[in-house]
Amino acid sequence: MKILIINGPNLNLLGRREPGIYGADTFEDFLERLRTQYPEVEIQYFQSNHEGDIVDRLHMAGFGRDCNIGGIGGDEETLATLDAARVDGVVLNAGAYTHTSVAIHDAIRAIRVPVIEVHISNVHQREEFRHHSYISPAAAGIVVGFGIDGYRLAVEGLIGKLKVKN
Ligand code: DQA
Repeated sequence: MKILIINGPNLNLLGRREPGIYGADTFEDFLERLRTQYPEVEIQYFQSNHEGDIVDRLHMAGFGRDCNIGGIGGDEETLATLDAARVDGVVLNAGAYTHTSVAIHDAIRAIRVPVIEVHISNVHQREEFRHHSYISPAAAGIVVGFGIDGYRLAVEGLIGKLKVKN
């Protein structure tokens, strides 16, 4: 089973960014622990501060070499890399793009792979502009407000969903 975790803008700064809200753990340390907890699952990780890169990565997750980004053809090595980026499920914290991005909403709808939306903080207890999510209507599940442990809960839920499906 292959699962991809995508972190959006500013989440590269976890551990340093507003630790009162987002915690003191770096994502790299957390990811190492997560991978030891799920040795049978290949957990890929991608972080970007750029909306289009997140859209691209979702397309690769869904379609591998058939994603056709920029009319990609390419040599066998490029195509093999794209195939390796294909996964069974995605855990996505789109950060602030959650509240703005129709493009990420559309990308989730375009792929057949289930996407679980995660937020470290309880966005509903925060500013009004964080209450609306463009991701939620397209997501297969949502985990909100459990701190960094929310990613593990999302992986656990995704594994359950994928086992039922297969
Ligand atoms: C966040 C919540 C978003 O509102 C914010 O823009 C983030 C992180 C969270 O994980 O709590 O960057 O997605």
